[in-house]
Amino acid sequence: MTRLATGVFLLSLLAVAGISAGGRDIVDDVLLLPSDVSNFFHNNNKQTNNDDNNKDDDSTGTRWAVLIAGSNGYWNYRHQADVCHAYQLLKKGGLKDENIIVFMYDDIAHNFENPRPGIIINNPKGEDVYKGVPKDYTGEDVNAGNFYAVILGNKTALTGGSGKVVNSGPNDHIFIYYTDHGGPGILGMPTSPYIYADKLVDVLKQKHASGTYKSLVFYLEACESGSIFEGLLPEGLNIYATTASNAIESSWGTYCPGDHISPPPEYETCLGDLYSVAWMEDSDVHNLRTETLHQQYELVKQRTAHSNGYGSHVMQYGDVPLSKENLFLYMGTNPANENFTFVDDNSLSLPSKAVNQHDADLLHFWHKYHRAREGSSRKLEAQKEFVEMMSHRMHLDHSVKFIGKLLFGMDEASEVLNAVRPAGNPLTDDWDCLRTLVRTFETHCGSLSQYGMKHMRSFANLCNAGISKEQMAEASSQACASFPSNPWSSLRKGFSA
Ligand SMILES: *[C@@H]1O[C@H](CO)[C@@H](O)[C@H](O)[C@H]1NC(C)=O
Ligand SMILES: *[C@@H]1O[C@H](CO)[C@@H](O)[C@H](O)[C@H]1NC(C)=O
Repeated sequence: MTRLATGVFLLSLLAVAGISAGGRDIVDDVLLLPSDVSNFFHNNNKQTNNDDNNKDDDSTGTRWAVLIAGSNGYWNYRHQADVCHAYQLLKKGGLKDENIIVFMYDDIAHNFENPRPGIIINNPKGEDVYKGVPKDYTGEDVNAGNFYAVILGNKTALTGGSGKVVNSGPNDHIFIYYTDHGGPGILGMPTSPYIYADKLVDVLKQKHASGTYKSLVFYLEACESGSIFEGLLPEGLNIYATTASNAIESSWGTYCPGDHISPPPEYETCLGDLYSVAWMEDSDVHNLRTETLHQQYELVKQRTAHSNGYGSHVMQYGDVPLSKENLFLYMGTNPANENFTFVDDNSLSLPSKAVNQHDADLLHFWHKYHRAREGSSRKLEAQKEFVEMMSHRMHLDHSVKFIGKLLFGMDEASEVLNAVRPAGNPLTDDWDCLRTLVRTFETHCGSLSQYGMKHMRSFANLCNAGISKEQMAEASSQACASFPSNPWSSLRKGFSA
């Protein structure tokens, strides 16, 4: 049978079976891989067959993926490298470009700091992962509003970009992967505002209410990423999420300069993130028809876990029983791995060292400074960047502490600011208050920026202690008497809330 004839035959078979796909192109949605087609026929020829061959029945839906890197800047190389790698993996798995929506600022491949122009790697020995990546949402179009609109399939809510959205139907499977900096209850974006946990979970609830997916998997890499779902993502939405860290710890960059497995010498930046490369390097080599989400979770957890003072706890949220499904439902599988039998033993090498996400930018500027020629303009520039970054960090740390003391007194302040609610609770119950206090702080003290997201728990605790906007404004204006004028000023960076 020719390929065309197969398509026509399958189409009529579907018509007979009464399967509709909401007016979309049925052939495109159903014909995923040549192997899927043969499985489809196999299952239809033996309709009473209920054994494990039926596990491919779910592939009658379409696989959708949303991949998003929340950062920009060369020192954040690794997040866009992660996203490019994820695209290549899904593409090899058989997903179509029309079903993979990519958000990346796209300032890395052709950045003047990039030692291999036009190329991005995600592993020291890795090949180019940049080639062919669709530029759906780049630059300023990488923003929270577009991210929500894409997930919801709402084209009218988009600003800019390719217009591609998750136009999914009830039998479809959706995979969302986010990687960047974060903080308690918040995920970074290259353009303000940032993503707040309550809004993201609301979007997922709306998506569920619209009945436009069968199940959804969310992989999330960021500092304190557990706080995005903890106490917020309910069961029953058919969503299974894993996060790089729990609600109170950092996540980690990897393949960083100075690591045991370090990037090629010409790179002054980390190439990947620990949790992200763990799931991707696992998916790269395994037969995803036989590996389950749970098996991958266990392997990733092991590779990302604490040892030698670094690492984080990979967590699961939502409908955990979904994790008995095969990765194939979400990622497809690379036909070249079809003979790879899954073994529980993780053959992937463990990196000996990793860099705290919060410090990876400092590491970049430090390496740049250290390696630049004495007296060169590059050396001066790197020194300036390093000093500005350090002083903004100190300014933020100092201001938050000072505000705490003004509001609660010398003795109580650190207890209030550093309080952690019992596990299973969200950061706060009043997210509008949190946004208001963050905005008030930023008005007086400058943009929280990447580093400042670590203080989100303190702001949430102010809300939990009943601090009003007026009290916050008063304390912030005392703590930050002069408005910062450096590149981290909210005048330039905008507001994260
Ligand atoms: C899509 O977004 C627009 C603009 O934000 C909004 O008015 C509309 O209600 C949304 N549509 C749906 C179906 O949510
Ligand atoms: C898998 O094994 C079968 C049987 O030995 C062989 O025909 C096929 O080419 C192999 N596939 C790959 C991708 O190596």
